[in-house]
Amino acid sequence: MTGPVTSKPLIEALKGETMEVPPVWLMRQAGRYLPEYRELRARARDFLDFCYTPELAVKATLQPVRRFAMDGAIIFSDILVVADALGQTVGFVDGKGPVLEPLDGAAGVGRLSLQGLPERLAPVYAAIAGVRGELPPATALIGFCGAPWTLATYMVEGGSSRDFARTKAWAYGEPEGFRVLIDLLVEALAAHLIAQVKAGAEVLQIFDSWAGVLPDTAFWEWSIKPIRAIVERVNASCPGVPVIGFPKGAGILYEPFARETGIDAVSIDTAVPCDWAARALQTTITVQGNLDPVMLVTGGTALEDATTAICARLHRGPFVFNLGHGVLPQTPPDNVQRLVDCIRGRVP
Ligand code: CP3
Repeated sequence: MTGPVTSKPLIEALKGETMEVPPVWLMRQAGRYLPEYRELRARARDFLDFCYTPELAVKATLQPVRRFAMDGAIIFSDILVVADALGQTVGFVDGKGPVLEPLDGAAGVGRLSLQGLPERLAPVYAAIAGVRGELPPATALIGFCGAPWTLATYMVEGGSSRDFARTKAWAYGEPEGFRVLIDLLVEALAAHLIAQVKAGAEVLQIFDSWAGVLPDTAFWEWSIKPIRAIVERVNASCPGVPVIGFPKGAGILYEPFARETGIDAVSIDTAVPCDWAARALQTTITVQGNLDPVMLVTGGTALEDATTAICARLHRGPFVFNLGHGVLPQTPPDNVQRLVDCIRGRVP
């Protein structure tokens, strides 16, 4: 092949092409496992400040792209910036994770507002524009958001949770009240995704990290339906921009999720058998996944064998290599290099 690069492998795969070599990027590919990330992180006052400083966010986004020549660059930000932009108090405590002032029911939702969102998130859009100017020509820029359900769990629980009891009790016991929050999040998240595309994002991913804790009827109501509403808005404003959905832990509900949300690709978690995904999902949609992040900590031949096995099961259809969840902080960066080499056939 000669001439300039005119297409990006990640976008081709997301649009349904079966690729000779699968494109690869990793969820949480920018993070504490990289020494250069830790150095950059130390320059920001706190994590939100890091996300809202375009110069730092651009650098963090590009670190794994430069080091490993990833096919995708995911903008350095967080799903919780939207809660912050809606007016909730959001903080990140080192060693503890996110801490939010928990929403107290309808009154708490009433205090949230869409008004300030574009200004508050302007630094994210500035960072996206900045990355676009520095991206290698074959790398695609990925924008993202949390799904309404997953974002709602953090907003209602006030942080991470073991049982999601507050959020579930509200959704089960007073669904019409809970719907007001979900509807507000649909508006906010669709606007955030569309603004990311306007700024330069070429691919979008919606993280429903806690979809898997919902029983099936609630999964339809609070995962599938709100995501479908977001995808409809995004498709109307940004035709041709592929959307990846990640309903972590959805089990056999991956099938209706892939079919009903209108997404272009589905990211499968580690527990989804690749043979099943090839039969049940890949015939109609691009599949992304699903190496166990702990394999990337383990390394060695176990990592190579697991990587080869996933590629062997999914290479016959449209496929993007990724993890089943995010890169763990204790991951040796050399193992990520080994993974990328293995996917690209560079391991002897
Ligand atoms: O490289 C990338 O993937 C882009 C950046 C990104 C971050 N968070 C940066 C981050 C992305 C895509 C996210 C998504 C995100 N954030 C999700 C969905 C994906 C998932 O993991 O299920 C969720 C649930 C969050 C919320 C969140 N942010 C938590 C629970 C935590 C604490 C856990 C931790 O690892 O510390 C964060 C903080 C966070 N977001 C960090 C990073 C790099 C670590 C903060 C630090 O550097 O101290």
